Amino acid sequence: MDRSGDAIGVFDSGVGGLSVLRALRAELPHEKFVYVADSAHAPYGERDDTHVILRSVAIARSLVEQHQIKTLVVACNTATAAAIKQLRQSFVDLPIVGIEPALKPAASQSQTKRIGVMATRTTLNSEKFRTLMASLHDQGRFVLQPCDGLADAIERDDATKIIAACADYTRAMGRFGSEADELDTLVLGCTHYPFAHAVLRAQVGDSVAFVEGGAPVARQTRKLLAERGWLAPAGAAAGPDPVLYATGNADNLQAAVQRWLQWPASVQTLGML
Ligand code: DGL
Repeated sequence: MDRSGDAIGVFDSGVGGLSVLRALRAELPHEKFVYVADSAHAPYGERDDTHVILRSVAIARSLVEQHQIKTLVVACNTATAAAIKQLRQSFVDLPIVGIEPALKPAASQSQTKRIGVMATRTTLNSEKFRTLMASLHDQGRFVLQPCDGLADAIERDDATKIIAACADYTRAMGRFGSEADELDTLVLGCTHYPFAHAVLRAQVGDSVAFVEGGAPVARQTRKLLAERGWLAPAGAAAGPDPVLYATGNADNLQAAVQRWLQWPASVQTLGML
């Protein structure tokens, strides 16, 4: 069946997945995208796995049934860690791409081999993350920082809380810089955190490299679609503006799209989920 004209579904607990959607649109400019922010049930990062699994499956089902998506991008490290296995079992014919903290690229580019990792508590405690880190034990020393409250502050665009949380968490990780015992690389292991980039940069200094996962996810999405012959035809006009939904209040997502991405957007509320 020709699926090339169908949309790519993308979801996150809230506005964070926009950092992945931005990378997807850059990599796949001819595609249609449908984005769901699960704002009525966010944040995911301080909730138990059952909550995140139930929400992820409900959103995936709605995207499959209402929008006939040809692939699903889980634009949330927390949902990937907690729910991707269940999603793959529930939707066996749907190609699914997840995101995880980019430890491997961070380790290969770090000179000091000391790497800070900011992520949600649920991500850092997950078996998936622990397995990934164990596989890289000889590649560098990872300093893990659960960032309670930071995604929520970014969700609400609460500048005071964002600055305070970033200051506390970067201080807790230790010294940043390019000297032998300093952290020279910082993994943004939650898709909300790229939107605190400027605040983090001011706090850790210019020499520190930030690593995030949006671009690799976009490349992997292209690969899965290309293998199946499902890419939207190249040379066609650019894809339409993404269709955006929020399960709760749509205002945060609407404001975030305009503030960070400068796209024309009209966010709709997805009530039935
Ligand atoms: N954006 C999500 C992530 O990548 C989680 C934010 C949250 O809901 O706690 O982990």
